[in-house]
Amino acid sequence: MVIKIAGTGRAVPSTRVSNKELAEQIDTSDEWIRSHTGIGARHIAPETISVSDLAVEAARGALKLAVERAEVGETDPEKLAETLDFIVLGTTTQDYYGCPPTCCLVQHQLGAKKAAAMDLAAACSSFIYSIETAAALLLADPRRKRALVIGAETLSRITNWNDRGTCVLFGDGAGAVFLEKQDGKQEEPGEAVSSGRRGLLRTILGADGSGWENLIIRRGGSRNPWKPGETVDIPPHVEMNGHAVYNFAVKVITETIEQFMEEESLTIHDIARIIPHQANARIIQAAGKRLKIPEEKFYLNMEEYANTSSASIPIALDELNRSGQLRRGDLIITVGFGGGLTYGGNLIRW
Ligand code: ACO
Repeated sequence: MVIKIAGTGRAVPSTRVSNKELAEQIDTSDEWIRSHTGIGARHIAPETISVSDLAVEAARGALKLAVERAEVGETDPEKLAETLDFIVLGTTTQDYYGCPPTCCLVQHQLGAKKAAAMDLAAACSSFIYSIETAAALLLADPRRKRALVIGAETLSRITNWNDRGTCVLFGDGAGAVFLEKQDGKQEEPGEAVSSGRRGLLRTILGADGSGWENLIIRRGGSRNPWKPGETVDIPPHVEMNGHAVYNFAVKVITETIEQFMEEESLTIHDIARIIPHQANARIIQAAGKRLKIPEEKFYLNMEEYANTSSASIPIALDELNRSGQLRRGDLIITVGFGGGLTYGGNLIRW
């Protein structure tokens, strides 16, 4: 059995805030943000839109594309939703704190009546973790056939807009992939690439919990709850040790790509595209330099969307897919890192 990506979708709020507009609110500049991060703008969800809304829009896009491209033998995206076995939503910014899982709201909106639904929280690595989780669940039971994997965030809601060290980095958005299990031989480790099969070939996942404090929302959880009568000056927000995260990111991106290359006997010429988590162009440039991989191999879109955490890789995948930049048979690597600290990558044959 093999796990094929049969559709992709994305949702990006229409409100676009350029660096220049941001620089009218806080002490920063377009030049500083671009030169330190590669970011030029971010899209921000209006108050009426939450993560589940963005997730549903991206999911509908993925279902519709799977139908339009005749990938799944269904002619109606709504009917296709009814056949889903489960949905996994990677997010750090759930609609409601802890309960209900945001994915249940998505399941309801999609009319995916028979689908199980779960949220997965691995910070910015959530999409990479979620796609592997979905693939493993599909392979675990012969009766399961179809799944949706979504990465969605409203990071603008957990951003301290007075902290120029973090607020310039983040944006809102969602991306989704529709997965279908199809007949095919599952091979031994190290043989996934030579077999030529399409779909998700393998995944690397990891975490280094010793870095838990380097990206953190300190207040509101069971460690540090709000107390009755307490005045809330600023809502819960992300605090970051930028240097520590930067160093971790360059290290794990380099190591993850190297591990794929070594264990699957690949050279960089075998890889059509690397789709990294879109946090900072300098992180990608540093990793590329270490690996001697030309910058053009990496697909970067943080110039337009900034860092959308769990959503950044599926948004990029959908852009590449819809613009015809991925050809059947292309080998692609996704690679990312995030709070926790977590990291990982997926090796996919398109
Ligand atoms: N505008 C202008 N100046 C700024 C800004 C800003 N937005 N932010 C910081 N500065 C200033 C600092 O105050 C400092 O000034 P000083 O020298 O007078 O003290 C100077 O710029 C340099 O600050 P650094 O923090 O050293 O800047 P650096 O070059 O390290 O870049 C950055 C900071 C971009 C945050 C970098 O550390 C980074 O990208 N780290 C990784 C962050 C990341 O990827 N986070 C997300 C991962 S997980 C997730 O996706 C949610």
